[in-house]
Amino acid sequence: MARTTGTRTKVKYVCQECGYAAPKWLGKCPDCGAWNALVEEVAELGPRFERSVTVGENKPMPLTHDTGRTDGRISTGIGELDRILGGGIVQGSVVLVGGDPGIGKSTLMLQACHRLTRGGARVLYVSGEESFDQTRMRARRLGTIADELMIFTETQVMPVREEIDRGGYDIVVIDSIQSMYTPRLPSAPGSVAQVRECAEELFRVAKVLKVPTFLVGHVTKDGSIAGPRLLEHMVDTVLYFEGDGRQNLRILRAVKNRFGSTNEIGVFEMTDHGLEEVPNPSRAFLDERPRGTSGSVVASIMEGTRPLLVELQALVSRSVLSVPRRTVTGVSANRVNLILAVLEKRAGLRLSDKDVFVNVAGGVRVDEPAADLAIAVAVSSSVKEVPVDPELAVFGEIGLAGEVRSVGQAGKRVAEAGKLGFKRCVLPRGSAPGGVSKGIETLLVSRVRDALEIAMER
Ligand code: TYD
Ligand code: MG
Repeated sequence: MARTTGTRTKVKYVCQECGYAAPKWLGKCPDCGAWNALVEEVAELGPRFERSVTVGENKPMPLTHDTGRTDGRISTGIGELDRILGGGIVQGSVVLVGGDPGIGKSTLMLQACHRLTRGGARVLYVSGEESFDQTRMRARRLGTIADELMIFTETQVMPVREEIDRGGYDIVVIDSIQSMYTPRLPSAPGSVAQVRECAEELFRVAKVLKVPTFLVGHVTKDGSIAGPRLLEHMVDTVLYFEGDGRQNLRILRAVKNRFGSTNEIGVFEMTDHGLEEVPNPSRAFLDERPRGTSGSVVASIMEGTRPLLVELQALVSRSVLSVPRRTVTGVSANRVNLILAVLEKRAGLRLSDKDVFVNVAGGVRVDEPAADLAIAVAVSSSVKEVPVDPELAVFGEIGLAGEVRSVGQAGKRVAEAGKLGFKRCVLPRGSAPGGVSKGIETLLVSRVRDALEIAMER
């Protein structure tokens, strides 16, 4: 093991692929041969930085043992946020809030902190990115000035840890984890090693003192927060804040949650005075839907436990390229390619010489196969230049034989469409919902061809 001399901390370089530890950085791992996989880590702590908080009196105990603690959750005062967390903040939990820069992470956190403070909680907001004045100005703009809310502009993790240690806080927010650093490591703030080391430090404090902690993290272009695949494993809950930067709707999504269901989403709108909850997301997403234009159809999808209506759009035009374009946003490109192949082969649409663009309106991401049928209908509507009945919603998975396969929660999906005034819904025969759906006609199909016919009949 590496030796510690004086107060300097020794580092080692560990391969992220195979775990090999080298005393100095190498471009290629001598063990598994992976390139650029070595990341520095603290090999041994210098005497000044002993990890005092790790000393606990933990011992094994029977699962039935009554600890006297309840799993009482703390409400953030923001309904959508509480719901995504699984019903409020869990004691000692660590939540990662990720998203692109400028999407509204700090705004959301500051609003939540304000409400928590109003509810009597002691909150520490560590701002490593913005100065005290900037944070105060933002709070004033949001109308969220509360005397009790403590702002700490600090980027070194040790003083932050000490403050949490002695401050008796109920909630801690670190904005952002990338701005934190520890002088133990020579690398710059934001590097994988720094992010991980700081997160581990804060994680340990959160667990030992049972202080719920939010870590804000920026997502890099490739979709991961710097160092974060690692962070995701460490934390209890991962929330992603997404939405098209130009549009005002913001979606907060739980991608991991030890204390609640995942794929739950919360919808917000960014206004002049901060984020506001959107009580009826389906309506918001369908707000600007064009009428009487081909290539647009409404799909009823599930986001976690909640149905959501979204508009799928397709534009198909003759291609001048030898390899026609397939441009897809909001759904999986592979899925779209599969559906295009099915349409070509099983529904007689000629697409091989056409550019195809598919988009989900409102910046939503749909990962569910239940959106397949809507993609097929939108594409075929654009090809034929026949608008789809605006009072029709569709859902269903498509199989390679051109069959429409059943999906779960059909009842909820149909009900949501009915609630928003849709008159007819095309769905898989295998998912016929039990009971009568009020005010909406259900049209059961087992082949894509049939669905297209119904959607485009006049
Ligand atoms: P911010 O919370 O700073 O984003 P992040 O922390 O994720 O980087 O949000 C910044 C954006 O939000 C900025 O473009 C301005 C906008 N905004 C509003 O539209 N209204 C507001 O009340 C606030 C505070 C910000
Ligand atoms: Mg910010």
